[in-house]
Amino acid sequence: MANRHDLPLGFRWGASTAAYQIEGAVDEDGRGRSVWDTFCERPGAVRDGHTGAVACDHYHRYPEDIALMRDLGLDGYRFSIAWPRVLPTGSGPVNPRGLAFYDRLVDALLAAGITPVPTLFHWDLPQALEDDGGWLNRDTAHRFAEYTAVVADRLGDRVPAWITLNEPFVHMVYGYALGIHAPGRTLLLDALPTAHHQLLGHGLAAAVLRERGLEVMIANNLTPVRPASDDPADVEAATAYDALHNRLFTDPLLRGSYPDLSAFGVTEDLGGAVRPGDLKLIAEPGLDGLGVNYYNPTLIAAPTDPGLPFAEAPIEGVPRTAFGWPVVPDGLRELLVHLHEVYGEALPPVTITENGCSVADEPEDGRIHDRARIDYLDGHLRAVAAAVEQGVDVRGYFTWSLLDNFEWAEGYHQRFGLVHVDFETQARTPKASYAWYRDLIAAHRGRS
Ligand code: NOJ
Repeated sequence: MANRHDLPLGFRWGASTAAYQIEGAVDEDGRGRSVWDTFCERPGAVRDGHTGAVACDHYHRYPEDIALMRDLGLDGYRFSIAWPRVLPTGSGPVNPRGLAFYDRLVDALLAAGITPVPTLFHWDLPQALEDDGGWLNRDTAHRFAEYTAVVADRLGDRVPAWITLNEPFVHMVYGYALGIHAPGRTLLLDALPTAHHQLLGHGLAAAVLRERGLEVMIANNLTPVRPASDDPADVEAATAYDALHNRLFTDPLLRGSYPDLSAFGVTEDLGGAVRPGDLKLIAEPGLDGLGVNYYNPTLIAAPTDPGLPFAEAPIEGVPRTAFGWPVVPDGLRELLVHLHEVYGEALPPVTITENGCSVADEPEDGRIHDRARIDYLDGHLRAVAAAVEQGVDVRGYFTWSLLDNFEWAEGYHQRFGLVHVDFETQARTPKASYAWYRDLIAAHRGRS
């Protein structure tokens, strides 16, 4: 594997978080309710009944967190803006106190020499919009564009590049198809219109950002799909899965069309959701960068359940994170090279917008020796360097996550941070991986 020190000069180093996972302060300064506030109240929805009500209390402790970022030497910080803080009912009157929080955050980041990279939607939809159907309702895409305009008008003078959506695939599948995340719907394939409406929302928001001279990115959860064997039935199943997980989101953005989903019994208009002109609206604003969130590859075999055209197979013989996810760093190289081959010139520069792992970190003598995280990050950065060597234009790497935080349905049980958070006291303790990442950034910068 390539040497991570060979990453290009000017490569940007970052860390990522998301509003509901870190902010807390859910009832403060006029914030409206989000689908996650509601979902957390549902018995059994989140492990041990955890909620994001306090989380890392970042809403109050952001100066301390920015000091940690500054000492780390980050170039950029990816965070998300909570739509219900800005527009408590999703549309209509703006909540100035909510908007003011992001104003303070952006100013404090800039004062620390860190570029703010906001994500406009990281799954915390205003509950009022969910009451009208959420992303099943096409109107939500238009509300998203209006919200984008409000935020861009306020912060666009200081924030050059924006991420519209975070992982629309995961939001569709976990939120609307399987009910594992908010809003907890179990519509299976009838959730597909939420893919289209999110993408339409992206396209409309992208146009709003472009009109203001701002750059546009999206953060997709992508996975290299490997067939379990070269048996044609496994290969066919892998092709079907790749269409659903990856190409359903990259094809419309980069090619202006949806992939063939006929293996799922789904028509090209995704159950009637796609209207004439929509694909143009999605593709035309273009992307200045593609954000890639990578955690692991996926092994796919021929179906065992008659309802689906694929079955997921376990990946054997590799280490696993505390979450049980397989650790396969070369999968990131494979994914990036595959994107480059499939989309060619249409692929914009890539930024890794998330990559990291959950480790069962507990302080020993006040220190956290998260060797497994260091190995994970090191392996994945070597994979990025190898992809660059193979011709892929990768501009930066944002690790997930700066802080241990509220890991959705897992509550506080999965720790992904470079910084340990004691959720009783809110004490922050940088882990060994924090020092490692800091030294790596400094060494890389020293060459520039
Ligand atoms: C993807 C999501 O964007 C983020 O919110 C989540 O915490 C990480 N992956 C880890 O599961």
